[in-house]
Amino acid sequence: MEHLDVQFVGSYVSEGSCPAVTLPEYAFIGRSNVGKSSLINMLCQRKNLARVSNTPGKTQLINIFTVNTDWQLIDLPGYGFAKVSKKQRAKFELMIEGYLKNRTSLQCTFVLIDARHTLQAIDKEFINWLGSQSIAFVIVFTKTDKLKAHEIEKNIENINKELLQTWAELPQQFVTSSKTKLGRDNILDFISNINKMLGEN
Ligand code: GTP
Ligand code: MG
Repeated sequence: MEHLDVQFVGSYVSEGSCPAVTLPEYAFIGRSNVGKSSLINMLCQRKNLARVSNTPGKTQLINIFTVNTDWQLIDLPGYGFAKVSKKQRAKFELMIEGYLKNRTSLQCTFVLIDARHTLQAIDKEFINWLGSQSIAFVIVFTKTDKLKAHEIEKNIENINKELLQTWAELPQQFVTSSKTKLGRDNILDFISNINKMLGEN
């Protein structure tokens, strides 16, 4: 299994306060509690690199990590967390949207979706917003260890049916589990291929 050398760069309140752009960046985003921090820890093979919690709303800043000195991984706060105040939620949204819209080194956004549920309105809204801003994204299905193979297949099929109501084509998708490490190699290969293409240009 590929070893990654990961360095924490810092936590930032806005895109404007992030360090100057140097390396290609890959952002991880999704509903609060969907498993973003767990997925990042799984990809990096580190237990507590990104903080995992049963309480939604754990990640509240833009966290940047440098991987193998040649790309950066971004852990963003979750969206749609009902238990924070309206004001706080608007602040998170501005932080997320500001980063995704303005960060010129952003290559791809990984949108995490819990494979156990139907497509939530907030996920659909967020995906449509990415489309309206022409922000490149892929989908990552999380927590698949909690389901049987046929349930995963059925749920993903339903989610894709829903997506095809608004989208002509489906984005690339990864089926993952932070517990079993399913999908790790596929995601890392995907990132590494983009980095290679960028290096060739
Ligand atoms: P916020 O930072 O609050 O937005 O949450 P998050 O999206 O970073 O989620 P986090 O990684 O903190 O995980 C939330 C909960 O889901 C934790 O209790 C994790 O242990 C659990 N979890 C995450 N991924 C998986 C997975 O693949 N399998 C299982 N079984 N549990 C998972
Ligand atoms: Mg988190």
